[in-house]
Amino acid sequence: MDMQPIPAREGNHNLQDYQQKRKNFHWEEVKENFSWSKTGKVNAAYEAIDRHAEDPAKKDKVALIYSAPDREEKLTFNQLKNQSNQFANVLNKEGVQKGDRVFLFMPRSPEFYACFFGILKVGAIAGPLFEAFMEQAVRDRLEDSEASMLITTPELLERVPHNELPNLEKIVLVGDFTEASNKYVDYFKEMDQASEAFDIEWVDLEDGMLLHYTSGSTGKPKGVYHVHNAMIQHYATGDWVIDLKEDDIYWCTADPGWVTGTSYGIFAPWLHGVTNVIRGGRFTPDSWYETLDKQNVTVWYSAPTAFRKLVSAGADVVHKYDLSSLRHVMSVGEPLNPEVITWGVDAFKLRIHDTWWMTETGAMLIVNYPCMDIRPGSMGKPIPGVEAAIVDNEGNELPPNQMGNLAIKKGWPSMMRAIWKNPGKYESYFINGWYVSGDSAYMDEDGYFWFQGRLDDVINTSGERVGPFEVESKLIEHPAVAEAGVIGKPDPERGEIIKAFITLNEGYKASDELVEDIRQFVKTGLSAHAAPREIEVKETIPKTRSGKIMRRLLKSWELGLPTGDTSTLEE
Ligand code: WTA
Repeated sequence: MDMQPIPAREGNHNLQDYQQKRKNFHWEEVKENFSWSKTGKVNAAYEAIDRHAEDPAKKDKVALIYSAPDREEKLTFNQLKNQSNQFANVLNKEGVQKGDRVFLFMPRSPEFYACFFGILKVGAIAGPLFEAFMEQAVRDRLEDSEASMLITTPELLERVPHNELPNLEKIVLVGDFTEASNKYVDYFKEMDQASEAFDIEWVDLEDGMLLHYTSGSTGKPKGVYHVHNAMIQHYATGDWVIDLKEDDIYWCTADPGWVTGTSYGIFAPWLHGVTNVIRGGRFTPDSWYETLDKQNVTVWYSAPTAFRKLVSAGADVVHKYDLSSLRHVMSVGEPLNPEVITWGVDAFKLRIHDTWWMTETGAMLIVNYPCMDIRPGSMGKPIPGVEAAIVDNEGNELPPNQMGNLAIKKGWPSMMRAIWKNPGKYESYFINGWYVSGDSAYMDEDGYFWFQGRLDDVINTSGERVGPFEVESKLIEHPAVAEAGVIGKPDPERGEIIKAFITLNEGYKASDELVEDIRQFVKTGLSAHAAPREIEVKETIPKTRSGKIMRRLLKSWELGLPTGDTSTLEE
């Protein structure tokens, strides 16, 4: 669809300022916004929370509004400072040291955020896990990271195979439990006894802060390692793109188990000392509109999959709510359909600003500033301090309008610093000085970038990144399944759905019951979002002579496309 550009409005920065910064800007300029630029003492938890708590004008400002069907709570910056100090003392008592990996596996709650900052305050590395993960997903991540501590709830404990994780020394339980073991730490009891005073562990900007596991097309999920230095870009994009102002009420819908939920659900708003809404519970169009209305949300960051659900809920639902506080809306995670932008203009009288980035990049890279004209369907333009290009497979830049690899010149502040325990994988991202994203795109004559698709087999279902290998591995654990190949199949609401092709072991016959049983097996073993929506039983699965599943061929068959080069296909 060819649509007219949607004109800009003024934000914190005007177009002239953006253009000037694109020509002449150094990240050093952002540093003066942090107290460490004066004191030399670094810790992102201090910058996000304690700094505001020590400011008499901000101390009692509401930092967090927690809203869930069964619980409403507000915490000021001072309360969040005190609670995270208490938890840092608990961690110290339990022997957690700088550089240790402490994982969080629990639903969003005020306790989650106190724990998160407590971890940073002792200099440890936080590993947030999405609460919907089942045993295999939890095990893979705790095993690879060699986490020494896990914070979870009694309800989720059954998904933690803790006797099979030799490095896992302690489990902090947030909630009532009866099992007696010196492995368990009672969160509420320990917090009661812990002091609210704590001496923060000062770190280096290059010290570890976060480990986010994400999927590629091969192998198990990999640990993307981020350092405290990332805060520079979280802060800058909070100003340039999220357009945060002192009195904003900000809401980012992402769970902290995904990178958006930490970079933009935690750091960007709190580095700016802005009130941050955290919503618990499940998504329904009504509950989301209700949150916008009731909390008077002014700035909202969400995802195409959610917007599409709101579109299908229809205009009647929108008009039940007062959304007049809302002034700025952004999107990330998958292509933002031009139709959805049109709907946003209609429903909210606002433009939805697309942003592009990845777990590995740590923060936004290609965006639509409030001051830019939006070309519906385009991800926008690179932020200042970031050089983006379309390159060929050797890392040579391609001219405008030519499709290729979307690549970023190495070295922006929030770039991942390692793939945990996998230097070879880390190196493989970089070609000729460029970080190669795995996305294909082109750039038009005016410098707008247009997303075209993934170049690998990674599936993006409802904005969540799923590796086919992980799903295939789980499928073949089912006694009936001999072989499996998994692809993403285009879907109007979810972007893609997961489709699995399987062959059966001898003695099993294809039936609806069996297929459903296999689906449930993945759902309860790995996670609900990784369970294939469609499973097709085949006689054989196409493989290369070296035994690799030819997902590309499965996809072509599924979509009725030409099959291309099949010379490596096994007889
Ligand atoms: C996709 C999420 C189109 C892309 C922050 C990328 C997008 C992957 C957009 C990263 C966008 C993200 N338009 N596609 N605006 N934003 N993607 O690591 O394929 O969960 O490589 O990070 O999502 O997903 P991840």
